[in-house]
Amino acid sequence: MLAFQADMAGALSFSTSKESLTRRRVVVETDGCPLRPEPDTASEEPQVEVVVFGFDTGKGMPEPQDYRDMPYLWQSGYFAMDVPKLRARLKSARLILGDVTETLRNFAAQENPPPIGFIAFDLDYYSSTVTALKIFETDHRYLLPRVACYVDDMVGDIDWAYNEFTGELLAIKEFNAGHENIKIAPVSGLRFWGRRIPQTWHEQIFVAHLFTHPDYGKPISELTQIPLAAE
Ligand SMILES: C[S@@+](CC[C@H](N)C(=O)[O-])C[C@H]1O[C@@H](n2cnc3c(N)ncnc32)[C@H](O)[C@@H]1O
Repeated sequence: MLAFQADMAGALSFSTSKESLTRRRVVVETDGCPLRPEPDTASEEPQVEVVVFGFDTGKGMPEPQDYRDMPYLWQSGYFAMDVPKLRARLKSARLILGDVTETLRNFAAQENPPPIGFIAFDLDYYSSTVTALKIFETDHRYLLPRVACYVDDMVGDIDWAYNEFTGELLAIKEFNAGHENIKIAPVSGLRFWGRRIPQTWHEQIFVAHLFTHPDYGKPISELTQIPLAAE
């Protein structure tokens, strides 16, 4: 289940959850539309509170480091934000401003967030995404064993030319090569599973697998068990 909240516009957003609490914010992503919270109808489902953190410089893109940041698409100062206007729209999401190199360094220890269950990566640059992916090296108590991820800058037209040798896809490829026990992988067959119309986001969902997390092997449901014994 993806959890997110409509009032977030950071470049990197975490959703963390506390089970058995009173609020539930489930989220739906719609193609090209702002993310919207679902109506709170499923009262029989466990109550989960979702906490959202958004990270951004607050003043637009930093300087690109080299060709891997795809400077033919993005330059310093792009996407500068109106901080007061954005803050006025936030209901509960927390905005953490500054370069992620600084703001992510002590994020978990300082904020003591509930386990991170979803991350949207939209930092555009390879170099910024490399830094952001270090969040998966955080102590396991701050992470679910599998963290759903949305990767924004990997689907586009021929002139954008997203590829595995630059940008966010290169950052993921290198992260996987450098981490034996953590792998960030697309969800095989996601586009076919209960979905009739192919959407770009089906390609953009990954899951970070933390193989040594103490809960990695914990069954997620009894539903996948099918009794086969003959009567
Ligand atoms: C395409 S914009 C994000 C747009 C946002 N997700 C939205 O939908 O409104 C990319 C953002 O990444 C941020 N960014 C890039 N590198 C960063 C870094 N090293 N630290 C913090 N923010 C960074 C930029 O400030 C910019 O606002």
